[in-house]
Amino acid sequence: MLRKTLLLLAIVASGQFAFAQQKPLTTNTGAPVGNNQSSKTAGENGPVLLEDVHLIEKLATFDRERIPERVVHARGVGAHGEFESYGDFSKYTKASLFSSIGKKTPVFTRISTVVHEQGSPETLRDPRGFAVKFYTDQGNYDLVGNNLPVFFIRDAIKFPDMVHAFKPSPIYNKQDANRVFDFFANVPEATNMFTYLYQDLGTPANLRQIDGFGVHAFKWINAKGEVTYVKYKWTSQQGVKSFSAEEAAQMQAKDHSHATADLYENINKGNFPSWELSVQMIKPEDLDKFDFNPLDPTKIWPEEIAPSMAIGKMTLNRVPDNFFETVEQAAFAPATLVPGIEPSEDKLLQGRVFSYMDTQRYRLGGNFQRIPVNAPLVDVNNFNQNGVASSRGTKSDVNYQPSATQPTFVDDNQYNYSTRKIDEETMQRVISKQNNFKQAGDLYRSLSKVEKEHLISNLVGDLGQVKNKEVVNKMVSYFYQADADYGNRLIKALKLNRNEVVALVAAK
Ligand code: HEM
Repeated sequence: MLRKTLLLLAIVASGQFAFAQQKPLTTNTGAPVGNNQSSKTAGENGPVLLEDVHLIEKLATFDRERIPERVVHARGVGAHGEFESYGDFSKYTKASLFSSIGKKTPVFTRISTVVHEQGSPETLRDPRGFAVKFYTDQGNYDLVGNNLPVFFIRDAIKFPDMVHAFKPSPIYNKQDANRVFDFFANVPEATNMFTYLYQDLGTPANLRQIDGFGVHAFKWINAKGEVTYVKYKWTSQQGVKSFSAEEAAQMQAKDHSHATADLYENINKGNFPSWELSVQMIKPEDLDKFDFNPLDPTKIWPEEIAPSMAIGKMTLNRVPDNFFETVEQAAFAPATLVPGIEPSEDKLLQGRVFSYMDTQRYRLGGNFQRIPVNAPLVDVNNFNQNGVASSRGTKSDVNYQPSATQPTFVDDNQYNYSTRKIDEETMQRVISKQNNFKQAGDLYRSLSKVEKEHLISNLVGDLGQVKNKEVVNKMVSYFYQADADYGNRLIKALKLNRNEVVALVAAK
C-alpha cells in the first residue's frame, strides 16, 4: 500500500500523471495562465507585483464569493425533479400544468429551516420551508410553502417584528426564548401554529419524510373567469418521521447536516423521494359560512368542509451539479404565477407577493430571473431591459410598446387577471372572525398520549427559560383557552399559579 502511494506521488511529482480531458487553466477572460502556484515577485524576497493580473483577479473574485444570505430560510438544500398531473383540472384552473393526465413539468425544490443562519444545524426546532418551482410551458410557477399547515400570524405587517424576535438578540447574538415569547405573548393567533411546531413535527428526522403545505388560500381561475379558492398539500410518499427532542440532540452532536446528506444520498442511490399534491376547494360564495375565515392562514380547512382531491405527484431525481449556482441562487416567490393561479385576499400572502422579489433584487440583483435555475424554459418576450449583468441579447431597435411599425409581442386578454367587485371602505383592522384557539384545541385533543407528552415537554423546554412570569402566564393562558387539559399540564410542569393564568382568560 505504502509502495503504491509513493509510486503515485512520484508520478505526480514528475508531471507524468495523465488526467482525462486536460484543458488550459485560464483567467476569467479566457487567457491561458502560466503559473497558478507562485505569485510574481521582484526577485526571490522582493514584493509581489501588482502586474500579476491573474493573482489580482483570483483574489478579487474570491473576495466576492459570498452574497447576502436569505434574510429568512438561509439554511436549505435543493434538488431537481418532475411533476406529473393526475388529470385535466381545467374545470377549475386554466393553469396549463394541470391541463391533462400524465402531463409532466420539470421542477426545482428547495427545503429549508426558517430562522437559523446558513451554517446552522438542521436539527433545530423550526418549520421547514417547502418551495417548489414548476418550469411550466406558460412560464414559471412557484409554490412557496412550509411543512406545517398554518402560520404564526395573519398580517404581513407583523412579519419583520416576528422575525426580529425569533432571530438572535441584537446585543448577545444568540436566539433567546425571552425575546421570542415577549413578542408572542401578544399574538394569540399563533396558538395553533405553536401546537404544531412544538410537537416533534418541529424537528423532522429528514427532509424526505415531511409533508408540505401552501398554507394560504390561493385562487384558481378557469377559462370562464370563475374563481375557486384552493389550499395545497404535498403528502410525502415516504411517510412523516420526526425526531424527539432527545433524538434531535443526539443527531446534532453527531452531524449537523444530516438532512442534506440524507436527501442527496437517497437521490444519488436512485431512491427518489416523491410527494402527492392535493387541493382542498371552497367556492367564493361559501367563504363566510364557517366559524373561521378561510382566508386566515392561522387556520386549516377541516376535511369535513373541504375534502382533499389528489391532483399530481412530484418526484425529486437529480442532485444539482453546483450548490451555489442552484440552491443558493434559487429565487422562489409567491408572485411567480401563471395564468389560472392568483393570490387570494389573505393579508399575509398579499405582503409576500411584494417581499420576495424585492429581497431577491437586493440579494441576487435586478436580473435574478435570468440566472439559469430561475429562468423559465419558455421564451421571455417583453421590453424590460438592461441593469447589472443583463444578458437578454435583444437586437431590435423597437424597445417599446405600442409600435405602429413592429407590433412584435402581443398581449392577449385570455390571460387577464380575474376581476372582483369591491364596495367597501379602506381600513386597518384585524379580521372579525379571529377564533384564535378552537383549532389548536381540536389539534391537541387529536394527539396520542405520547404526542401530548412530547408537546408539553418541548414547550416547557423553551417556556421554562423565560424569566418574565407575566409573559409565561399569558402564553399559557392561550394554551389553556385552546384546551383546559393542555393549559393545566403546562401550569403544573412550569409550576405556575393556576389562578393567575385563569384570571388572564377571564380578563379577556
Ligand atoms: C408576510 C409574511 C412573509 C414574508 C414577508 C416572508 C418573506 C420572506 C423572504 C424575504 C424570504 C427570502 C427570499 C429570498 O431571499 O429568496 C422568504 C423565504 C421563504 N419563505 Fe417567507 N415570508 C413570509 C411568510 C411565509 C410563509 C407564510 C411561508 C410558508 C407558507 C413562507 C415560506 C418561505 C419559504 C419556503 C422561503 C424560502 C424559499 C427558498 O427556499 O428560497 N414564508 N420569506
